[in-house]
Amino acid sequence: MKPILVTAALPYANGPVHIGHLAGCFIPADVFVRYLRLKGEDVKFVCGSDEHGVPITLKARKEGLSPQEIVDRYHEIMKKSFADFGISFDIYSRTSAKEHHRTAAGFFKTLYDKGAFTEQSTEQYYDEEAGQFLADRYIEGTCPKCGNENAYGDQCENCGTSLSPSELINPRSKLSGATPVLRKTKHWFLPLNDYAPWLKEWILVQHKNDWKPNVYGQCKSWLEGGDGLQPRAMTRDLDWGVKVPLPDTEGKVLYVWFDAPIGYISATRELLPTNWEHYWKNPESRLIHFIGKDNIVFHCIIFPAILKAHGGYVLPENVPANEFLNLEGEKISTSRNWAVWLHEYLQEFPGKEDVLRYVLIATAPETKDNDFTWKDFQARNNNELVAILGNFINRTLVLTKNYFEGAVPSAAAVNNDDKKVLAYADEACDSISRSLDRYRQREALASMMDVARAGNKYLADNEPWKLIKTDVERTAAILNTALELSARLAHLMQPFLPNTANKLYYMLQTTSVGWDFKSETPLLNPGHILGEVNLLFDKIEDDAIIEQVEKLKTAAAMNEEISKIENSENGIDPAKPETTFDEFMKMDIRTGTILEAERVPKTDKLLKLTIDTGLDKRTVVSGIAEYYNPEDILGKQVTILVNLQPRKIKGIESQGMILMAEDTDGKLCFVSPVDAMGNGSVVR
Ligand code: MF3
Ligand code: ZN
Repeated sequence: MKPILVTAALPYANGPVHIGHLAGCFIPADVFVRYLRLKGEDVKFVCGSDEHGVPITLKARKEGLSPQEIVDRYHEIMKKSFADFGISFDIYSRTSAKEHHRTAAGFFKTLYDKGAFTEQSTEQYYDEEAGQFLADRYIEGTCPKCGNENAYGDQCENCGTSLSPSELINPRSKLSGATPVLRKTKHWFLPLNDYAPWLKEWILVQHKNDWKPNVYGQCKSWLEGGDGLQPRAMTRDLDWGVKVPLPDTEGKVLYVWFDAPIGYISATRELLPTNWEHYWKNPESRLIHFIGKDNIVFHCIIFPAILKAHGGYVLPENVPANEFLNLEGEKISTSRNWAVWLHEYLQEFPGKEDVLRYVLIATAPETKDNDFTWKDFQARNNNELVAILGNFINRTLVLTKNYFEGAVPSAAAVNNDDKKVLAYADEACDSISRSLDRYRQREALASMMDVARAGNKYLADNEPWKLIKTDVERTAAILNTALELSARLAHLMQPFLPNTANKLYYMLQTTSVGWDFKSETPLLNPGHILGEVNLLFDKIEDDAIIEQVEKLKTAAAMNEEISKIENSENGIDPAKPETTFDEFMKMDIRTGTILEAERVPKTDKLLKLTIDTGLDKRTVVSGIAEYYNPEDILGKQVTILVNLQPRKIKGIESQGMILMAEDTDGKLCFVSPVDAMGNGSVVR
């Protein structure tokens, strides 16, 4: 039997887990592993928290805590969420673990000793105000590919392009907002370009047919697109991470994408201190990485190159990456708080872990991005889980209780039609296996549900509730068959809906017999006493769904307000970049007097003012109606920018701008000369 090691991408320990994480890799990996375990395969499932890198240090800075405090907090929260949703890791470790630091540093040292790195002094962005080099996400700027103004130093989240900080247009420091300067620093690079021929052969030729098209396509454009692969720095100037294991490297750590995938190895070592090599160094071993699409290059190109450079390790057999799950039509975003958080879901829908698992598998973004909506969640619960699966099981068990005192009735009168429906379940088992082997979990789940549909049709066609009046023996055979089918459904739902499978086993008073079964062997003996009957699923009402959508919108809106305040130091807007005297002198600012003022109809905020500027009398539209009544400001002296390009506001041409001070609450007040002045006096 070949050993199988399944990994799910180590999530950054900088926030709780949301449905996008679950749909991207944790549920797919879990479904796959549960299936393999049922088949009796030699499989291990490893994961852990990714606790290094800029996402962590930025979060710590924002919260005023140390990185260690941040990862300690989120590691526990994430670990609990995964356990709650039945993600059945054999180990959930973390990259701040000693074992990991040792393993990752050892890897780096081996590569260094083998001469796998090139040492280069290059110019990197440095924030002079913060006194720090700006690695990866410490720097933001405009994406050279798509023009997104908030691209990160390592990646543009809008178009998915992987970037290096030097490619950003108008780079700015995330620490101080300052424009960074270039400074020399030394780093160790992995010359990925040297691995290109090998990678092309391994991926583009050998995995042409078995890797998913979305994964293969991304690899192809990496390997064949533009300038091809470039050397990539494997170290960073940061004080949080795995220390570079070389002399005179104070303040340098391993690149998080060097250390994190090695986390898969350290977690396996922690789990199996004496047997981990069985999964990593056995040429027969099958390594399978479940990830989201933003991780493809790291798992298909960079990590394999690292493993290859080291030697002795297996390479991934497959990297079944999912695309992204959106939420109510918008990209899921932690920073915008546009997400469904697992710990909150569980508070609001206790006991409904499997409902979310079901919906996330049924809508998994396997080949393209997909959308999670609360309406669809409700519909799938009510129309599929309740009306099809739950209904079949419930009818079968209730009828058995009513007609046969809750004991499995005799199969004596079973005929070929009855056998056919069980044979259908056998076939479904085979086709589910085929789908799961090919990472088509939506298709597999649909086949499972088709068995429940077949069960409902079988009951409707045979009408045991009518037959009981005339033919008890046939009724017994029909319910015997329906119960056999229920036991098969329990088996088939195990990888997808583990809690529900257990509930059903409990009602049937039986246990799992693994994955492969044949209908010649009954799973339940006549006379076997069944357990108490309970509903597997219940209906979700409109109110609950409306509440969720409202909650989502409110949370995002509140978040926007909070981040507005947070983004400015103490609520004060950050300083703008330096300007020149010449630039400033282009502004023609004068003193003037308000002659007339009236509200602009159908607006709350706008006043139409007539101003004597000393040069002329002109109209200006100003957004101050919330703070000033028209009658109170007549005769007031103000300052006005007179050479601003005129623009139409609500159909009125506004010829200039009154200068106002705006406090942190958004309140406005005039910036007026303290002493009375003649109109038209120049302000500078
Ligand atoms: N933390 C990364 C992310 O959330 C994934 C790391 S996967 C590993 O995108 F391979 F590095 F572990
Ligand atoms: Zn972009």
